[in-house]
Amino acid sequence: MTDQANPNLSALAAKTAQETGEFPNLMLKEIFEQPRVLREVVAGRLDQATNRLTLNEVTLTSEQLAEIRHIYIIACGTSSHAGLIAKDLIERWTDLTVDVQIASEFVFNRPQTANDTMAIAISQSGETSDTLNALRQARANNAYIIAITNVLGSTITVESDATINVKAEVEAAVPATKSYTAQLATLALLALYLGQERQTLTSDQVAEYYSELSELGDKIALVLSQPSLESITKAAQFTAEAKSVLFLGRGNSVTTCKEGALKLKETSYLHAEAFPALEFLHGPIALIEPEDATPIVALLPVDPNDDSMNNVFDRVKSYGARLVVFATTSATKSIQNADRVIILPEASALQTPFVTAVALQLFAHDIATSLNRDIDRPRYLSKVVVEE
Ligand code: AGP
Repeated sequence: MTDQANPNLSALAAKTAQETGEFPNLMLKEIFEQPRVLREVVAGRLDQATNRLTLNEVTLTSEQLAEIRHIYIIACGTSSHAGLIAKDLIERWTDLTVDVQIASEFVFNRPQTANDTMAIAISQSGETSDTLNALRQARANNAYIIAITNVLGSTITVESDATINVKAEVEAAVPATKSYTAQLATLALLALYLGQERQTLTSDQVAEYYSELSELGDKIALVLSQPSLESITKAAQFTAEAKSVLFLGRGNSVTTCKEGALKLKETSYLHAEAFPALEFLHGPIALIEPEDATPIVALLPVDPNDDSMNNVFDRVKSYGARLVVFATTSATKSIQNADRVIILPEASALQTPFVTAVALQLFAHDIATSLNRDIDRPRYLSKVVVEE
């Protein structure tokens, strides 16, 4: 179904088209709303006296939570990328195992849901048909369902046992930006809560990670100020003429690269793919076209002493690629051969997926601007993908 077929979405688009304010488009406006949104998502969740996190939306008791053995995360598109970061956090902070499933494929993967299973359904709109179909299947098999959504009252909230509102407010541009980082922050809070209730995290650890989440608004505000903004715009102009853009990362950054590649495809109509950096050498490196100086966009590892990507950088440069590197100040010493370096604020492992995602949102936006694309309403896409 297209927005044109849905009077509510058409009305929303018409209304919001007048509300870009000082920004040239809604996507950029929504990117700049992220510091405020992230502060609001995180605020007020920790009792300072007891160091205990409250997540009243989760209606299971501590005893019931202790009985959960496995979690399925079901989602589509950008929301599935938030799910991949959440998997890493939940498995790091608890004794639970997590499968992230593309919702439309859930039925094919023989999920083993039962009453010791939790399913986390992530959907900005709360109306995506593929996610709802997977949710219904998990529910029919007795899983406890938590909806992570931006739209209270949406179908997903009606059909779930619990709902956590990501509080990003209306997101009108088709490319998801603020809803993604709000989902990440909400899922980080849920992961912390599971660690607290299952006693796999100490109260000091909960307080420490919560404090890092509380800094997110300020970190993102730095990405959205000079000189970072200008260096991203210059790197985007350097990349915009490419036929194909290849993203490389390691660990959680592979997920951020996938999200950056999706954002670039969606806004710019450029071919873009993401790979784990070292896996790139096992075949995909043949995609480099020396005549086009294929751009390689790399996110450096969080550990400033990790120089494991330098070998990859040497190889891609020797085959004629252009290298654009996003890195924190302390990591820049390990960069060799880069054609463009975008310096990002220092960030912890927990904060890095937020900082780098926002940088790649801006990168995609600026490339789309260079190519004069209809950024808020990309061709063939609508804000909500529902069955015809
Ligand atoms: C994101 O930029 C895309 N528009 C798309 O991938 C989207 O995230 C996906 O369709 C899922 O939508 P939802 O979160 O509303 O379920």
